[in-house]
Amino acid sequence: MASIPELTLNDGNSIPQLGFGVYKIPEAETADAVVAALEAGYRHVDTAAFYANEHGVGEGVRRSGLDRSEVFVTSKVWWTDNGYDSTLRSFDRSLELLGFDTIDLFLIHWPAPKSDRYVETWRALERVRDEGRARSIGVANFHTHHLDRLARESGTVPAVNQVELHPWLPQEEVRAYDAARGIVTEAWSPLARGRILGDPTLARLADKHGVTPAQVVIRWQLQLGNVVIPKSTSPERIRSNLDVFGFVLDAEDLAAIAALESGERTGKDPDDLG
Ligand SMILES: NC(=O)c1ccc[n+]([C@@H]2O[C@H](COP(=O)([O-])OP(=O)(O)OC[C@H]3O[C@@H](n4cnc5c(N)ncnc54)[C@H](OP(=O)(O)O)[C@@H]3O)[C@@H](O)[C@H]2O)c1
Repeated sequence: MASIPELTLNDGNSIPQLGFGVYKIPEAETADAVVAALEAGYRHVDTAAFYANEHGVGEGVRRSGLDRSEVFVTSKVWWTDNGYDSTLRSFDRSLELLGFDTIDLFLIHWPAPKSDRYVETWRALERVRDEGRARSIGVANFHTHHLDRLARESGTVPAVNQVELHPWLPQEEVRAYDAARGIVTEAWSPLARGRILGDPTLARLADKHGVTPAQVVIRWQLQLGNVVIPKSTSPERIRSNLDVFGFVLDAEDLAAIAALESGERTGKDPDDLG
């Protein structure tokens, strides 16, 4: 299998472009799922305090036999902990649960603009980055106006903006904004939580390339330049979601996928949460 490409972040660190998401994997099953993913060849795992499975992620990394430095791990502070001191406490707890000395990427999970604490939260992330405990820092679910505010009120451009992104919601405005400022766009729910996989256009493209609809969508994400973190608990799907380097979508395929845009979200609009 071809190796996973790495993207360079605006702080000089690099991130494997295809990673493994663990949202909704119960803590008791997480270590096994992470071991299966690492054995399949993933080198990047996306968790969060909210997923309540950070201990399983750390355990899976240790059980894999890989050196800690070979696996890129992301975690996030949940929006109810936004704020300077509460974010520092949440970060310490994530490190403790993971059993790590450093986190590769630490994100603000949601801006939660009504509670208006994301700028203070960002200052806490700058601090743990300056202390060397988070190698890179970024945000999730930030609209461009939230990013504009961080740019006005802080000196650090986020390394990553992780947003809901799939063919129904290709996030062109966010992608263009991020690209212009050196922010890597990362796609969460890249398969629209599996709901998009029955789409007839994706079935046609899957037949054309002799792959599955999920492989078509993951390949599309990579060709857009996104980091992509599909989740699965099936060892077979964990492996097949990584097997996306043996075909290329052509301009006609990309146009067919672009026509699927509907604006449909599987999660909340970030301005409506918190
Ligand atoms: N920042 C945020 O706010 C945020 C929000 C949501 C998610 N995330 C991150 O993004 C990751 C991915 O998003 P997600 O878990 O919501 O959804 P997703 O990756 O879009 O889809 C996962 C669903 O698709 C199914 N699936 C996976 N591969 C498949 C395949 N090859 N064929 C058929 N079905 C397949 C999975 O079922 P099986 O497990 O049975 O295979 C699961 O039900 C999360 O795990 C999390 O790390 C971040």
